[in-house]
Amino acid sequence: MQFHGGGGAALSASSSFLTLGVIKSPPPYQTKATWPRRPAATRAVVSALAQNHPDPDPKFSISDDALMSRGFALHRSAAGLNLDQLNSIFVAVGFPRRDPEKVRVALEHTPSLLWIEHRKTQRPVAFARATGDGVFNAIIWDVVVDPSYQGIGLGKAVMERLVAELLQMGINNIALYSEPRVLGFYRPLGFAADPDGIRGMVYSRKQKRQK
Ligand SMILES: CC(C)(COP(=O)(O)OP(=O)(O)OC[C@H]1O[C@@H](n2cnc3c(N)ncnc32)[C@H](O)[C@@H]1OP(=O)(O)O)[C@@H](O)C(=O)NCCC(=O)NCCS
Repeated sequence: MQFHGGGGAALSASSSFLTLGVIKSPPPYQTKATWPRRPAATRAVVSALAQNHPDPDPKFSISDDALMSRGFALHRSAAGLNLDQLNSIFVAVGFPRRDPEKVRVALEHTPSLLWIEHRKTQRPVAFARATGDGVFNAIIWDVVVDPSYQGIGLGKAVMERLVAELLQMGINNIALYSEPRVLGFYRPLGFAADPDGIRGMVYSRKQKRQK
């Protein structure tokens, strides 16, 4: 799902809610006493998925060095990121163009982000970010790869690293909204739709236009 800098609906009706398949603690709004105990069969599934837990030396499908040798530089902060060029990628993949000032503010409030630069052109070609409370929960937004660079592993490269970073911070409840056509991209990365029947909801009441 994309984040919207301006007005309009924040989520298309066809989007799905996905969470990483590692839920070790109750959501913060539930006490341990009310958190339902998992049946044995479910616990087995969860422990298998728990391999996604923090790894001191996470192995990625493509290493930083391999990315570099293919002409791509990985960045873990917004420093040096040209927001107009990022906006152009959003537009190229069908997201709305956003107010650059709002994008700047949003990124200031984004503790975890990754982007990949094509070194020859010095342009961003892949991006993903996560917001959250820094302890329990995070939501991933704006996973995009420039259409000219899709299908060569860059989306997976940013997602693997973003998830690894969140898990290393101890954040196990990681969610995102996915367009139906992208579910197959997120599933192998450890995400499941409606895990344990938990459904995502978004505020969708139409706002009156402000004059
Ligand atoms: C979705 C997106 C981020 C994927 O990035 P990408 O760089 O093209 O994907 P990768 O090359 O890293 O693909 C990684 C794996 O996912 C698979 N994959 C990629 N897109 C997929 C899709 N839409 N459905 C199913 N599988 C997909 C690839 O085949 C590859 O599989 P492999 O590891 O077995 O070889 C990119 O296509 C994109 O920016 N799309 C438009 C914006 C968008 O929809 N973002 C998500 C918003 S919810």
